[in-house]
Amino acid sequence: MNHAEMSGSQIRDVRWTGGVVLGIETSCDETAAAVLGRGGAILSNMVSSQHGVHARFGGVVPELASRAHVQKIEQIAALAMDEAKLTWQDLAGVAVTEGPGLAGALIVGLNYAKALAFALNIPIVGVSHLEGHIASAWLEDPSFPRSCVVLVVSGGHTHLYHMTQDGGAGLLACTRDDAAGEAFDKGAQMLGLGFPGGPALDHLAQAGDPNRIRFPRSMRKSSLEFSFSGLKTSLLYRLQGMDESQLAAARADLAAGYQEAIVSVLAEKAFTAVRRCGVTALAVVGGVSANSRLRFLLKERAQRDGVSLSIPPLRYCTDNAAMIAAAGRQALSAGRRLSDEAEARVAVESMPSLQVIG
Ligand code: KG4
Ligand code: ZN
Repeated sequence: MNHAEMSGSQIRDVRWTGGVVLGIETSCDETAAAVLGRGGAILSNMVSSQHGVHARFGGVVPELASRAHVQKIEQIAALAMDEAKLTWQDLAGVAVTEGPGLAGALIVGLNYAKALAFALNIPIVGVSHLEGHIASAWLEDPSFPRSCVVLVVSGGHTHLYHMTQDGGAGLLACTRDDAAGEAFDKGAQMLGLGFPGGPALDHLAQAGDPNRIRFPRSMRKSSLEFSFSGLKTSLLYRLQGMDESQLAAARADLAAGYQEAIVSVLAEKAFTAVRRCGVTALAVVGGVSANSRLRFLLKERAQRDGVSLSIPPLRYCTDNAAMIAAAGRQALSAGRRLSDEAEARVAVESMPSLQVIG
């Protein structure tokens, strides 16, 4: 059968021989598009944040997120192409976040990406948002070891993975309750810091003493699992006993102590995992990896223990599409494709990649 006799989906299924990839990410409250060149270089990385849309509600409102994605997606994708100085015809493949995330938000990106791939008759692949965050560890340093531990710390996930040389990923542990980013956001809300809380709490904590007010650490030594709900309750109880002026005087120390309880556990368990897995490299990715205190602790400990450390630059920590395009490039090479019927996968458990292997 020659090329002219193939149907659209057959052409899109042909072997991937490389080329420019457009990544699309709309799983939560960032509408993002990025272009990776044939060799994997990031040619553009556009992110439109909806923080202004959700701030007055104190959290992401799913319906508003979907609507904002619909309004922005075409413009952001076009901007990514402009910035990369390419035309649509230059694209060889499309990568899109398939899940986990908000159903309505994911559907916007999926449908846009499918329509684009269909119109251009090029392959499309769906990737897990976590796979994307993991891929961000190699964006700036492709030579970072493949055999490593990766800690994904975001608003929805706190997952420790053991990555193997062949690209396999084994889930070592995750959180029993809240994700680390959730703990930051809820703590920040209790301290009256607005939304999103993580960056605000990080900022305020820089003016505080992390040792003046001590919060409990969920540190069962034998387990790599995380738990942050007790910490949140502890902050709530402390605040209940304070009047406005006491709170004003202690706010920065509260922020610093609360942050320390989160990041010290993240760092401790990540390095324990490195030791247990017998590897010498650690990557920490996802929105919370933007935290200045966590970055400091990780760098200090990595240097002391002789561990190679990869923490992405801030623009690749929080949600972006460069990481989706990077994960998508690998998936396309591995022969993965998104079927025309594919739907959003809301839960992390429904993702075919990154399953528990031990
Ligand atoms: O990866 P991400 O952008 O989205 C999800 O996949 O969830 O992560 C967002 C999370 C939010 O909880 C946000 O508060 C947190 O990352 N975050 C931070 C910082 N920057 C973002 N947490 C602590 N310190 C920061 N500097
Ligand atoms: Zn994310």
